[in-house]
Amino acid sequence: MSTATAPAKNSTPASSNSDKQAAFAKGLEGVVGGQTSICSIEQDKLIYRGYEIHDLAAHATFEEVAFLLLEGHKPSAAELARFKAEIIAERSLHPTVTAFLESSGGWLASGRAVPMDILRSAVSLLGHTDPDAQSTAPDANLRKAKRLLAKIPTIIGHMQNIIDGRAIIGRRDGGDSELSHAANLLYMITGKRPSKEEAKVIDVSLILYAEHEFNASTFTSRVIAGTLSDMHGAVAGAIAALKGPLHGGANEAAMDMLREILRDVGEQGIGTPAVDAWMQKAFDTKRKLMGFGHRVYKNGDHRAGILHKLGRQMASTKTGKFEGIPATRWFDLGEQVQKIMLTKKNIHPNVDFPCGMTYFTMSIPVPQYTPIFVAARITGWYAHIMEQHADNRLIRPLSIYTGPAERKWNG
Ligand SMILES: CC(C)(COP(=O)(O)OP(=O)(O)OC[C@H]1O[C@@H](n2cnc3c(N)ncnc32)[C@H](O)[C@@H]1OP(=O)(O)O)[C@@H](O)C(=O)NCCC(=O)NCCS
Repeated sequence: MSTATAPAKNSTPASSNSDKQAAFAKGLEGVVGGQTSICSIEQDKLIYRGYEIHDLAAHATFEEVAFLLLEGHKPSAAELARFKAEIIAERSLHPTVTAFLESSGGWLASGRAVPMDILRSAVSLLGHTDPDAQSTAPDANLRKAKRLLAKIPTIIGHMQNIIDGRAIIGRRDGGDSELSHAANLLYMITGKRPSKEEAKVIDVSLILYAEHEFNASTFTSRVIAGTLSDMHGAVAGAIAALKGPLHGGANEAAMDMLREILRDVGEQGIGTPAVDAWMQKAFDTKRKLMGFGHRVYKNGDHRAGILHKLGRQMASTKTGKFEGIPATRWFDLGEQVQKIMLTKKNIHPNVDFPCGMTYFTMSIPVPQYTPIFVAARITGWYAHIMEQHADNRLIRPLSIYTGPAERKWNG
């Protein structure tokens, strides 16, 4: 890890390539890019505004965590009731956005667009319907944050209903006002009200996904917010960053990898050396295994163990088969893959690995896993956007020039 330090504010920026080389860290690894009071990531702790993630996962609800991130403190009972009512009232979509979603079925079916792309465009379009779109005042930002938090599950649900060719659920009201934010998200996607256990597991997954300091998508949102551009644009940019398989897209890619392993080794291969052989081939070809590794965590991701335990427990209550095998067999396979990664490579799973198996055994379509990540991370993005605005300075690093030496156009 680099020990590069940034120059002090208002100092003369490095101008020669050799000056810059001294401060260079590829991928900004180890570089401190700013200050935040929202989240702290340490090797042995993940903290949202002072509360440790195991504590939040065990004792808080997603709505409480969303309030904590957006408003800065743990809500009182009255504040929470008000917040929940505000979110429920904002769930439905402007008809223009629903019409756009209805027109997107062909792009999704042809593979020209995936749900993350449609979600990004829908968020952009929502900006045109938002009365506060062009204001970056703190109260306007908070209103926009709540509206987007409320509407993203509706976009995801409507999109999946269109993909499935069923009538849109909650077209007028954005779902069932008796359901929690997370349970309503599942209901909007699947058309079924989730069991208490499923509602708890998806709720915890949203808590785990809500915030993670200066990760790539959050940093993107801060860079955009730092130019004082519009907030829907900052979120659209963050969605584009999250889509990539090295970031949020890993939850879909991790599940696709497990499906690929199952296709290659068969159910009878789970728990046998056939999986070791599959993995060895991946190592030999230097393939990146999705859902493993992390830029910051080197001894494991705190969130992965929490979600794995809940997902495994829920899977044990499931009857029926999921793409040909029982729910628990997916976890058997995942655990074998994890063990091989740790033994052979000393690389731990990140939260996206158990997320894949957990969402899969809840019958959530794989291409919606990263959009669900957005439904949670929108709270972290907005908290950071508002923090950036509260003490703004344009984010503008330097680069080392590696192109040709100066030459004449007519030389
Ligand atoms: C997350 C990630 C991008 C972090 O990358 P990074 O900090 O740049 O780490 P590096 O790519 O430098 O990895 C260090 C070493 O571990 C290996 N490694 C890291 N993650 C790996 C993975 N998922 N599969 C196989 N090898 C991996 C690298 O190949 C590299 O090996 P080398 O030193 O022999 O070249 C990377 O671990 C990754 O691509 N993981 C898969 C995608 C994923 O799950 N993303 C979600 C993150 S929450």
